[in-house]
Amino acid sequence: MCGIVGYIGVKEKRNFLLSGLKELEYRGYDSAGIAVLKNGEIDSFKATGKLSHLDAKTKNYSSSGFGIGIGHTRWATHGKPTEINAHPHWGKFSYVIHNGIIENYKEIKEDLLKDGVEFLSQTDTEVIVHLFEKFIRNGETAFSAFEKTVSSLQGAYAILLISLKEPDVIFFAKNAVPLVIGKSTDNEIFFSSSDAPLIGWVKEVMYLEDGQYGWAQNHSITLLKNTTSQSLKMQPLTLDKISAQKDGYRFFMEKEIYEQSLVVGETLMGRIKGNSVVLDELSHINFDNINAIKICACGTSYHAALTASYLFERLAKVRCNVEIASEFRYKTPLLDTTTLFVVISQSGETADTLEALKMAKNRGMTTLAICNVDNSSIVRTADFTLLTRAGIEKGVASTKAFATQVITLWLFTLFMGEQKKTIPSELMTEEIEALLRIPLALHVDEAIHEKLHRLSKRYLHGHGFFFIGRDIFYPLALEGALKLKEISYLHAEGYPAGEMKHGPIALADSELFTIALMPKTLLYDKMKSNVEELSARDSTLLVISPETFELADDFIKTKAHIHPMGEFFEMMLITQLLALEISIRLGNDVDMPRNLAKSVTVE
Ligand code: F6R
Repeated sequence: MCGIVGYIGVKEKRNFLLSGLKELEYRGYDSAGIAVLKNGEIDSFKATGKLSHLDAKTKNYSSSGFGIGIGHTRWATHGKPTEINAHPHWGKFSYVIHNGIIENYKEIKEDLLKDGVEFLSQTDTEVIVHLFEKFIRNGETAFSAFEKTVSSLQGAYAILLISLKEPDVIFFAKNAVPLVIGKSTDNEIFFSSSDAPLIGWVKEVMYLEDGQYGWAQNHSITLLKNTTSQSLKMQPLTLDKISAQKDGYRFFMEKEIYEQSLVVGETLMGRIKGNSVVLDELSHINFDNINAIKICACGTSYHAALTASYLFERLAKVRCNVEIASEFRYKTPLLDTTTLFVVISQSGETADTLEALKMAKNRGMTTLAICNVDNSSIVRTADFTLLTRAGIEKGVASTKAFATQVITLWLFTLFMGEQKKTIPSELMTEEIEALLRIPLALHVDEAIHEKLHRLSKRYLHGHGFFFIGRDIFYPLALEGALKLKEISYLHAEGYPAGEMKHGPIALADSELFTIALMPKTLLYDKMKSNVEELSARDSTLLVISPETFELADDFIKTKAHIHPMGEFFEMMLITQLLALEISIRLGNDVDMPRNLAKSVTVE
C-alpha cells in the first residue's frame, strides 16, 4: 500500500521525506520517489526496490532553506513496479503523488490524449497532473485548476501536488484514503498518509475527512469541501512510533481484522463497471480454450481456494479442483492444457506453491497467480496475475490477505462466467450487488467484539475445538480452526458438519467445544440437524447464526443477509476475533506466534 509525505519549511527537505517514508515502509512498497521545489526549480528522484536505493541516489542532494517537498512509496496497482511508474509524476511544470485508485482515469486519459498530452507512465495517477495543467493552460489560476481537477476525479485518493506556478504551495486532497496534516511550533507544515512519520516533528495534527481538499503555504492552510471553506480541527499527537503503526490497536492482527472493510474496497476498486467485472490483467487469456480450473495453494490460501471451488462450479459452471501444493507436486498429476492453473499466495514466495506453478508451466498450462505482493517470485513466474491489494500483512496469522483472496476469486469467477457466457445477467446483477455490500458486512460491530472478549474466558481449555460448517462455510470452518490453533496453541479442527457423525462425534462431551457456523441463506436446516446431534452428545456449543438457536450454550447473533457471501464474511470476522481474544487472554504473542513464519520459502 502506498505511502505519502510532504513538507513545507526551511529544514533539509530530504531528511523528513526519507525518514517519513521509512516510517511507512511497513505498509509494503515496490518503488519510491521524492520531488523538492526550491528557488523556482524542481528536483526529482525515483528508484525501484528498497528505500535504501532512493537514499543512495539522493546522497549528495541537499535542499536546506525555504522550500517544499513531497515523497511517495508505491505499491503497484496500475502498471509494473518500474522507475517510470514510480511517483512523483510530472507534466510540464507540476509534480504529483497519489495513494488510491482513480477509477475514471481511462476516460480522463482519452480526453487528454485527444488534446495531444503525452503520457510517460502506465499509472492512473499521471492523469491528475496533466488535467491540472490543462486547466491552467485554459486560463485558470493554480487554485481553481486544482479544485476543478479534484472535482473531476472519481475513486479513492490522497493527493499532494506541487507546481512552479505557485512555488510555495502544496495542494492536497483526500477521499477514502487517509491523509494527515501536521503543524510544528516553527510553522512548518507536514503531510503524511499516517501519523507515524510525524512523531517527533509536530505536536498537533489534523486527520482530513473524505472530500476535503485545499492548499498549504508557509504558515497557512486553506481547507475546503465542495468549494466551502472548512475549519482546521487540529488535535494533539501523543503516540509513540509502534503504536502509531498499529493505529491504536493492541496488535497488528487486530488492526488488520478491522481494516478488512477498507482493503476489500481496494480489491474491488475499478474492477466492477455497471453489470460487468473488468479484469484488464486477464484480457489476453482465451477462455474458449479453458474447460476447467485447478488451484494449488497452502494454508489459509488453500482455504480461499476451496471456497472458490464452490463459486466456480455454482456460478461460472466451470469444473474446479483444488489441491494442497505440497501434495500436488509429488502425486504425478494428470495435467492438460485446457485447464487453467491457478496459484494463490499472500507472500508470493511459498516454496511448494512456486514449485507447483513451475510444474504446470513446464507442462504448457496457462497459469494465473492470485497474490498480494507484486514482483514476488510467484508473480514473476505466472503468465497472468491478479493482485489482491490487501497491503502488507504484519500479523503472521493471515486475516485481510484471506478476505481479499476470496473477493478476488469471486470477482474472477464472475469474470470467467461472463467470458464463457455461463452466467445469466440477472444472476450477475445479484452477485455484483452482493459483492458491493461486502465492505459494509466487514465493518466490525464493537458490541460483538466485546461479547467475544467476554466469552473468550470460557474457551481457554478443553480437549479440542471443532469448527463446523457446510458448503462455503466448510472452508471457512477450516480457516477459523487454523486461526485459533496458530495463535492460541489450542487444538482445533475444521470439519464439514455432515461428516461429524462418521467418526469425530465419538469425541463429543462437554469438554469438546463446537463452533457452529449456521448461516440462514445456505443449508440452515441440514446444519441444524448436525448441531442437534452434537448437542445430544453434550458437546459445548458456540453457535454463530442470525437465527436464535435454543440448544446453544453460547450464541453470537449475526445480521440478516440475503446472500451467503455476506454471511460468510461476517462469520469470518467473528472467528478471527474469537481467536484473537482467546490468544490475548492466554498471554500469547498474537502477531508472532511460536514456530511460524510469514513467508514459508522452504518445502
Ligand atoms: C495462516 C497463514 C499460512 C499461509 C501459508 C501460505 O494464517 O498465513 O497458512 O496461508 O503459509 O502462505 P502464502 O499465502 O504466502 O503462500
